[in-house]
Amino acid sequence: MKRYENQKWKQSMRLRLDFNNMMSDMLGEEQGISKKSIDAMAGKLIEAAKALETKRAEGRMQWRDLPYNQKETVADILETAAKIKDKFEVFVVLGIGGSALGPIAVQQALNHLHYNELSKEQRGGCPRIYVVDNVDPERMEALFDVIDVEKSLFNVITKSGSTSETMAQFLIVHDMLKNRLGEEYRSHLIATTDKEKGNLIKIAGELGLKTYTIPEGVGGRFSELSPVGLLAAAVCGIDIEELLAGAAYMDEICKEEDVYKNPAYMAATLQYLAMKDGKNISVMMPYADSLKYMADWYAQLWAESLGKRYNQNGEEVFAGQTPVKALGVTDQHSQIQLYTEGPFDKVVTFLGVERYRTSMLISRGFEDIPAVSFLGGHTLNELIHAEQAATEYALLKAKRLNRTITLPEVNAFTVGQLLYFMEVETAFAGELMEINAFDQPGVEEGKNATYALLGRPGYEQKKAELDARPRKKNEYII
Ligand code: PA5
Repeated sequence: MKRYENQKWKQSMRLRLDFNNMMSDMLGEEQGISKKSIDAMAGKLIEAAKALETKRAEGRMQWRDLPYNQKETVADILETAAKIKDKFEVFVVLGIGGSALGPIAVQQALNHLHYNELSKEQRGGCPRIYVVDNVDPERMEALFDVIDVEKSLFNVITKSGSTSETMAQFLIVHDMLKNRLGEEYRSHLIATTDKEKGNLIKIAGELGLKTYTIPEGVGGRFSELSPVGLLAAAVCGIDIEELLAGAAYMDEICKEEDVYKNPAYMAATLQYLAMKDGKNISVMMPYADSLKYMADWYAQLWAESLGKRYNQNGEEVFAGQTPVKALGVTDQHSQIQLYTEGPFDKVVTFLGVERYRTSMLISRGFEDIPAVSFLGGHTLNELIHAEQAATEYALLKAKRLNRTITLPEVNAFTVGQLLYFMEVETAFAGELMEINAFDQPGVEEGKNATYALLGRPGYEQKKAELDARPRKKNEYII
């Protein structure tokens, strides 16, 4: 029996959302959110919950079904991961945005923090992993300096099958593999993309590549629990079934319509009320290096889903809340001054960990200097917990909205819960804001302009539009 099949264990791994420091009874009426203002939205909250249920029932939010409907895919991924482990030394993800941030975040959360530097035995025989989510030529060359492409498997991931960055990476790798390996090169490529739309699926078909499908209704930033994230995780020894079990558990928790019983809905409601009160920045501050890239993943999810010019009625709203990434305790020494004394325009979300996967004692010493020796005998665990509590207190004292999501431990089950929680929170926030959280016209505009600038056929008009743009007049040579 797997541990996630045990109800008691699951309950012991349940995430906690502490939103006391968002409320007016802690922060005062001027800054805090009152229960009265939540209750005044009762009608809107039920309407939003019903709208999401309808979308789900109509198959427009298939990312919500990923914890349940991937039995065969998971079996296939596990089989493929075992083969990759046997044959390859390196696993490389070629992708960007939603096709890269999830794999990075989950890898960082669930594997050794210096995973790639471990020996193969220490990695349990799993390959090293690299996620190439840029087209900086120096970075690409640097990758080829540290991997042997002949011993590498490249997973090219793009939902649209046409993103310039990913396709450029693919073209380079495809050419390199073909030149070095001849016909055998195909076994070094796996394509993860839409079932029928886009160019990658056509290419994969022509070349006879192994493919995985990103299901309909699963947008890039909602795709970590699909083959986008599952293959990379499985290849690196992460228990993907436990990850999905954690997401399913959070789905159960988030099924209630009532915000007082649904933590993701409550989280979104408070963010919505905060935004209405001018809190247009959302800081995510994990107190764990393992969760550092969760803040990057969240930044994309929150920014791209909620940053919208138009609402669902086509009215201009210029909505959104700017995500900012911070790391506890590191950024206490770079950003907290601003958060405690700067403008009242932020909500800070702390990601805390109750039990770190290790404990480290601070050595005793310098007993003649009490201002140093007081640390000795404590653990780094106590210190990081104290620093988190102290920062929460400092923000509370300065009347700054903050909330804390605590993971009992960082494991596949709790990370699955966290990903799913943030996805549901985002979807519900989108509903409250009356915007479409699942499109990204602003990103598309940039993608189209890139196609035009590099001469993609069919984008001639866009190129003419770009050529007619005002030229730079105000420029210094510094
Ligand atoms: O969430 C999204 O849809 C985007 O951020 C995409 O993930 C990103 O633009 C990459 O797109 P694609 O997966 O189509 O290459």
